[in-house]
Amino acid sequence: METQQEITSMPRIGDKAPEFKAVTTQGDIHFPNDYKGDWVILFSHPADFTPVCTSEFMTFATMEEKFLKANCKLVGLSIDGLYSHIAWLRSIKDKIEYRGMKNVEVKFPLIEDITMEVAKKYGMIQPNEDSTKAVRAVFFVDPNGIIRAIIYYPLSLGRNFDELYRVVIALQAADAFGVATPADWVPGDDVIIGPAGSCGSAENRMQGKEDMECKDWYFCTRKLDKDKVLEKVLKK
Ligand code: BEZ
Repeated sequence: METQQEITSMPRIGDKAPEFKAVTTQGDIHFPNDYKGDWVILFSHPADFTPVCTSEFMTFATMEEKFLKANCKLVGLSIDGLYSHIAWLRSIKDKIEYRGMKNVEVKFPLIEDITMEVAKKYGMIQPNEDSTKAVRAVFFVDPNGIIRAIIYYPLSLGRNFDELYRVVIALQAADAFGVATPADWVPGDDVIIGPAGSCGSAENRMQGKEDMECKDWYFCTRKLDKDKVLEKVLKK
C-alpha cells in the first residue's frame, strides 16, 4: 500500500536526482547516470494527445538544438504508455501545424510511466491538482546529477521555454564565473558579486576600491561580457 507521503514527497534543490530506469521512445534509459557530464532537463506533462502539451512539445522539440548547444539534454515524461507516446509523436509530426511549426519530430526521449513510479519519485503528481496526471514539472539537473532548479506549473498553463533556456544559461554562468544573476538577467547584463564578508571589505567596496559597482555594501555588481558567457556555456 502506498502512503500519501510516497505520492507527495518531492526532491529538492541540491538533492541528488532520484535514480530510475525507464522505457522511452528512444530506448531504455538509466537516469541520471546516462547523463553524467551533461545538463539535463527532466520534465513532465499531463497527458498525450492534449492541446497544451502538444504546443509545448512542438516548441521544445523545435528548440532542442539550442539546448543541446548549451550542453543540455531533454527528457520528457507522462503517465501514459509507450504506444500512446509513439502514436502522439507521430500525429504531431504528420498532422499538427502550430505557430509556423510543422513536421516537428520529437527526438528527445519521452518516458512511459504508466505505473507512476518515476512521477511519484519526483513529486510530479500533485493530488489536489490531479491524482492521475502529472503536473508540468521541470527539473534542471547538473552534470554531477544534482538538482539545481525546479519549476512547477499547473495543468492549464503552458511553459515559457525561453525562460527554461535562460535558467540553463544562468545556472552555468553562475558556476563558471562564481557570481549570482539578478532579476531578469540575460547574458550581457551585469552580474552580482557575493556579499562582503567583513566590515573592511564592505568599506573598501563603498570606497570604490574594488572592480565593481555598489548600490550599497551588500548589493554590488560587475560587468560580464555576453561573449565570455556564451564562450563558456555554448559548445563550439
Ligand atoms: C493540455 O495539455 O491541453 C491539458 C492537459 C490536461 C489538462 C488540461 C489541459
